[in-house]
Amino acid sequence: DRSLKIAPSILSADFANFGAEIQAVEAKGADWIHVDVMDGHFVPNITFGPATCAAIRPHIKTVMDVHLMIAPVDPYIEAFAAAGADFITAHVEAGPHIHRTLQAIRATGAKAGLALNPGTPAEAVAPLLDMVDMVCVMTVNPGFGGQKFIHSCVDKVRTLRSLIGDREIHIEIDGGVDPTTAPLVRAAGADVLVAGSAVFRGGSVSNPAPYGENIRAI
Ligand code: DX5
Ligand code: ZN
Repeated sequence: DRSLKIAPSILSADFANFGAEIQAVEAKGADWIHVDVMDGHFVPNITFGPATCAAIRPHIKTVMDVHLMIAPVDPYIEAFAAAGADFITAHVEAGPHIHRTLQAIRATGAKAGLALNPGTPAEAVAPLLDMVDMVCVMTVNPGFGGQKFIHSCVDKVRTLRSLIGDREIHIEIDGGVDPTTAPLVRAAGADVLVAGSAVFRGGSVSNPAPYGENIRAI
């Protein structure tokens, strides 16, 4: 299914109010909820772990899309699966054994995603395409919301689309997605658009109308 899916990243939500923030963006049209897990090691920022994922799970009616920016990954896969992740995405750069990591994700029953940093070529996923349900193209360097979209990544999306061929694999874009960059990656073949700052800006749990306007604008 290559229809457009908007996945607000709760990295840009009110951290003291995740349950209500999730309900608000889902009510305003979010298709998936994107959950950014950072360890202060693979990326220079720390967010939260499996316990927070488990706590927010009952508030998500759509799809829980967990993006692991952690290394190592393997010791934590079971915990994120038990927390209720529908998709678990690991970075191809996170360790020497990404093939094993993808096997371990699928063994839990979760769908497997593979993320690529801006400096990693599309071809890095070629040997793994029969093991993934989604490829996540980072269009910023991971670690923070609100960064500028890196335009050179658009060509990579096009290359990936042709490598994927007719396999059932989502292409997700993560970083700097807004109404000006979204059409570029859609045209290049992406179907899942993560957006943090572009969804949450201007709104709040007590004033959620901007969330709907922002989602529609993407
Ligand atoms: C970045 C995260 C993204 C981030 C996107 O490391 O993986 O999901 O929240 O934020 P925006 O949309 O503000 O670039
Ligand atoms: Zn992310």
